[in-house]
Amino acid sequence: MLLQIKIYLISILYFLGALYMVLFPPRNFELSGAKIRTTRSTGDNLKLKKYVDHKTLSYVLDGFRRRDPEVVKVVHLAPQTFENRSILAVELRSDRHTRKPGILIVGALNPMAWASPNAILELSEKLLYDAKYQTPFFNDYDWYLVPMGNPDGIEFTHNIRSRRPLNSVDWTQNVSVRAETRPSEWHKNVDLEKEQKDRRCFGTNINRNFAYHWQDDVHKTPTRCCQYYPGQKPFSTAEAQAVRKYVDKMGDFINLAIHLHASFIPKKEYILYPWRYSLRTPSNYRTLQDIGEYAARQARLPDGRLYEVHQSSNDERVAGTLIDYISGVVGIDLVFLIKPYHEMFPNFTDTSDLGVYVKKSISTVLSLVRAWRSSTKQNTLSFFGRDVEF
Ligand SMILES: *[C@@H]1O[C@H](CO)[C@@H](O)[C@H](O)[C@H]1NC(C)=O
Ligand SMILES: *[C@@H]1O[C@H](CO)[C@@H](O)[C@H](O)[C@H]1NC(C)=O
Ligand SMILES: *[C@@H]1O[C@H](CO)[C@@H](O)[C@H](O)[C@H]1NC(C)=O
Repeated sequence: MLLQIKIYLISILYFLGALYMVLFPPRNFELSGAKIRTTRSTGDNLKLKKYVDHKTLSYVLDGFRRRDPEVVKVVHLAPQTFENRSILAVELRSDRHTRKPGILIVGALNPMAWASPNAILELSEKLLYDAKYQTPFFNDYDWYLVPMGNPDGIEFTHNIRSRRPLNSVDWTQNVSVRAETRPSEWHKNVDLEKEQKDRRCFGTNINRNFAYHWQDDVHKTPTRCCQYYPGQKPFSTAEAQAVRKYVDKMGDFINLAIHLHASFIPKKEYILYPWRYSLRTPSNYRTLQDIGEYAARQARLPDGRLYEVHQSSNDERVAGTLIDYISGVVGIDLVFLIKPYHEMFPNFTDTSDLGVYVKKSISTVLSLVRAWRSSTKQNTLSFFGRDVEF
């Protein structure tokens, strides 16, 4: 009799247990990013064989989203740019239900870095579809990517690329030659300010327009024509406003932020970190330097050189930049500026330079992630007594 009751009780318990599993399946079982997607090797070849413009970017991101709506989200940042384009962000998250350590990458704030949207798209492709990159890079992190921070500038420079180059200063002074020439370099967007009387000069340097020690690097405001014109006031550009809004909103989820920039001098390639506006060192500069050096060793350049790693202001003080804003205002601890070499106005049809920049950028980003992993002990990151666990 007693034995029978025991058996009944045990069967009921088993039944309840089974019922619970059916009603509330373990989440990993139900949805794991890695399982629901097809994997393949994406190989070494570029998927995109042309410098990406805003239309192509939008098209490619839409393709990712349609193929894998569970893990890809495309966000249109507001406000729109002067020429009414939306800056696009793409979020790659292997599991919608939990937040993993977040990595932010912003590319092409500077329109001379034509290949930087390509690099971010090729990286996305690998994270999503290549088994070699899914583990650990995709499955262990959430990726927040802004491939093209300055779509108007990219459009402008693409359109004038085949004209005869003229020194940028002469180009801005002399309106009569503009139809058949182009400035030798262009580091701005293309906006005009509301009460601007002299319409000859246009464009603001977005990476001088962020509100952290804005204009601290100059004694007087650079002229409107200057390639480093920082805007009438901080956040006067739509681009800086849009990126700021996004970064402010996502700040709590981002642990590592990277600005993918470019160096325009051959054989001068850098991994840099804040501050840019001041020679003062950030409180965690030792960690930043160590991670940077580790990444530089991992991402040795094709000719055997190493990236130079140091605080950005050691070369030149630059104020109002994205990385200083992210570090100083948003409060993210790990912030880097990557500058692989990129020619200005490269040959549009010859993609060998494009491929070199893209490969360098991807390997540098992933090396930074690896360096960050290796600097953590047992999933814990220690910042001066404060342990951030993930
Ligand atoms: C952008 O949109 C506004 C409002 O619709 C319009 O007035 C303006 O002319 C547009 N600008 C461009 C460059 O298309
Ligand atoms: C502008 O360029 C044209 C053609 O090179 C030249 O003839 C003219 O003198 C220039 N004007 C100024 C103000 O420099
Ligand atoms: C660009 O590269 C292509 C292919 O290599 C070459 O045929 C063309 O002459 C180059 N154009 C310029 C302007 O150098």
